[in-house]
Amino acid sequence: MGAPRVRKVVYAVGARPNFVKVAPVVEALAGASGIRGTIVHTGQHYDDALSRDVLDDLGFPAPDHFLGVGSGTHAEQTGKVLIAFERVLVDEQPDLVVVAGDVNSTLACALAAVKLGIPVAHIESGLRSRDWAMPEEINRVLTDRVSALLFTHSPEAAENLVLEGVDRGRIHYVGNTMIDSLRRFEAAARRRAAWRSLGLDEGSYVLTTLHRPSNVDDPARLHALVDALIALGRRTPVVFPVHPRTRARLESTGDLRRLESAAVECLEPLGYLDFLSLETAAGAILTDSGGIQEEAAALGVGCYTFRKNTERPVTVTLGTNRLIGDDPAAISTVRVAPRLSGPCLIPLWDGRAGERIADVLVESLRLPSALAPAAAPSAEPTPAPLRSSGVGRAEG
Ligand code: UD1
Repeated sequence: MGAPRVRKVVYAVGARPNFVKVAPVVEALAGASGIRGTIVHTGQHYDDALSRDVLDDLGFPAPDHFLGVGSGTHAEQTGKVLIAFERVLVDEQPDLVVVAGDVNSTLACALAAVKLGIPVAHIESGLRSRDWAMPEEINRVLTDRVSALLFTHSPEAAENLVLEGVDRGRIHYVGNTMIDSLRRFEAAARRRAAWRSLGLDEGSYVLTTLHRPSNVDDPARLHALVDALIALGRRTPVVFPVHPRTRARLESTGDLRRLESAAVECLEPLGYLDFLSLETAAGAILTDSGGIQEEAAALGVGCYTFRKNTERPVTVTLGTNRLIGDDPAAISTVRVAPRLSGPCLIPLWDGRAGERIADVLVESLRLPSALAPAAAPSAEPTPAPLRSSGVGRAEG
């Protein structure tokens, strides 16, 4: 009898949050015998600040393939990834493709794989905002629909999937790999004390990030948002690492100059460790990001989420998150407060999710029936409510 065949796993990453979510899985699976990992970076994020600096901080292995797709409209970006990633898959012939989160690269890589009959494993499956105006919601639903293994980080994620007719046998509640990365690097990030180099005291400042198209693309809305940040800066220092999308919009409207001449510290996007460092010592976080709601909850830092809904309701019920809606006037409610002490109450956000995922992957690769193509939903999907408010729901 010959040696067992080596199983090939392709990790598909493309944008900043993907790197943070996939790194713990790459590491946990690196030692598994009979499995070879290949990393494909689509190039959705290409600036050093959004890509290389983050990968370096995480100790992420160098990608084996860089697809260089760059920016574009949704169709352009998704289409370019589909075409380029399919070529890699045809060459590599992997047994499994691992994707994470909800960015355009996630959906495109999942789709390319499943059309070639290659099973897909989705990290951070089952999150739902029920807001179809968010490109990420479309990416989440469709990626889950074509995935053979669905890794969830909170009980409601599994409930969402079951309501959509997903077979429970495919759903694995493993915890949060983003929090694995956080726990791994938290001490190093604190030692950096990035707040000191900005002349700030621990707990004294608001850390903010805003990059969602719905918040930054409309000039009138952006202007009102900037007014609110300037007002906040009059009573509390505000630190604002500015995403390239947001910077481009702020520059074109002249709002960047207004912010800089007020007490709002506008920075270039930061590497992973510097940003985590600022998170650990923030008195409050104001954000429209998804992952930052989770990091704030894990750190016990109060988070004000500038959105009408969240696909991460567990950060509200068991964490430090509050939804303040998307009216800039709500920013006046942001207050700094001491960080909560004590462990994070969210189950399985314990720094071990990557290992649990690796265990499931090893088992599934040994037993290929676990990776059979996703069957048709076992029930009709339950329609999402059209108009309701609050956690995990869209508002009309
Ligand atoms: C993407 C994800 C979003 C995630 C965010 C994290 C989608 C649909 N959106 O948004 O869910 O929260 O990443 O950062 O996938 N740009 C640069 N340099 C780069 C990358 C982008 O300057 O390295 C600029 C370009 O002007 C580009 C714009 O940012 O047009 C938007 O980039 P894109 O990748 O389309 O989406 P993000 O806004 O980064």
